Amino acid sequence: MTESYSELNHVSYDPLVKESRVANLGSFITPTENFYIRNHYLEVPDFSETTWNLEVKGHINSPLSLTMNAIRALPKKELDITLECAGNSRSYMMPEAEGIQFNHGAVSTGTFMGVSLNTILDLADLKSTAKEIIFSGGDLGTEEEDGAVFSNTLTYQRSLTLDQVRDENILLAYEMNGSPLTRDHGFPLRLMVPGWYGMASVKWLVSIEATEHSFNGFFQKNRYILVPEGAEGRTLGEPVTKLGVKTLISTPRHGEVIYKGPFTFSGFAWSGWGLVTKVEISVDGGTTWNQARLINNQSPTAWRKWEFTWQANNTGHFIVKARAYDSKGNVQPSNVPWNFRGYANNCIQSIAIRVASKRP
Ligand code: MTE
Repeated sequence: MTESYSELNHVSYDPLVKESRVANLGSFITPTENFYIRNHYLEVPDFSETTWNLEVKGHINSPLSLTMNAIRALPKKELDITLECAGNSRSYMMPEAEGIQFNHGAVSTGTFMGVSLNTILDLADLKSTAKEIIFSGGDLGTEEEDGAVFSNTLTYQRSLTLDQVRDENILLAYEMNGSPLTRDHGFPLRLMVPGWYGMASVKWLVSIEATEHSFNGFFQKNRYILVPEGAEGRTLGEPVTKLGVKTLISTPRHGEVIYKGPFTFSGFAWSGWGLVTKVEISVDGGTTWNQARLINNQSPTAWRKWEFTWQANNTGHFIVKARAYDSKGNVQPSNVPWNFRGYANNCIQSIAIRVASKRP
């Protein structure tokens, strides 16, 4: 399968990481060729459906080994899901934080089709002693931490507790935007955990294991932890979980020249904690705020479009900001506390534009 990524901004070749161009994030559903990619390893699985199986094992009464045909025969569920990498907007952390230096483009929305995770867990019949569910990807690689090398055996694995896993919107997805998943998005099957940062949505899923213990895997305990200023060590802090309330200005672009008269700003807002209830726009660097119109009906699993029409009466340079609110009372902050790996940066985005008197 050869994939072309000419529509994405390159961030890293090893591992392959590409972010969406903010100018390409204007539609509610992000076309697959514009959807960001975040792999942890250079080598990613090239599974064939004929040899791939999903193993469901551990503290369950009915172990399963499922083919893709068996999974496709189960009741289907389709959801629009916004996926944002925990490292999105990392390059705006001050001082610079360790990790892949994303701008604002590690966020996208797709239509995902698959089977509800609950359907599979019900078939597997969890034992009452089960405490967490571990999801394993088929990708392997090497990671280093404080001089310790986890050599070539480190599978990408994440876990969810039983409470977290019972969300009816968690999918085992095999289609994205009407086609089978592409290789870099996790063919043939991936987990999609709506409302959580992207690390939870394990790609190239090969096993689901119920365990009696809390899981201590590398990507659970050594990564995706908000290590604050002053922490001793690189693994102490709160885990990264749900998406912080945030908004993206997709029109106009930073640096764009617009012309005197009415101009409509637009973008998307999302939160993993509640529904988006309000978006405000400032065209004077945050001194005064104007309420934007919320456009599409709110989906509990996807972002919400907003628009704001401004009468640009004066020429000059303007700093435009957008901030979102959610139904749990969260407001997008002006600053976020620094953390060592620069995760979960949902602070208010600013762009600079120029208003010119008339079109050339
Ligand atoms: N799953 C596996 N097996 N390996 C990975 O490297 N990356 C995670 C997640 N699932 C990853 C994975 C991260 S950090 C993110 S943000 C999302 O996948 C990105 O999904 P995408 O590449 O489809 O956008």
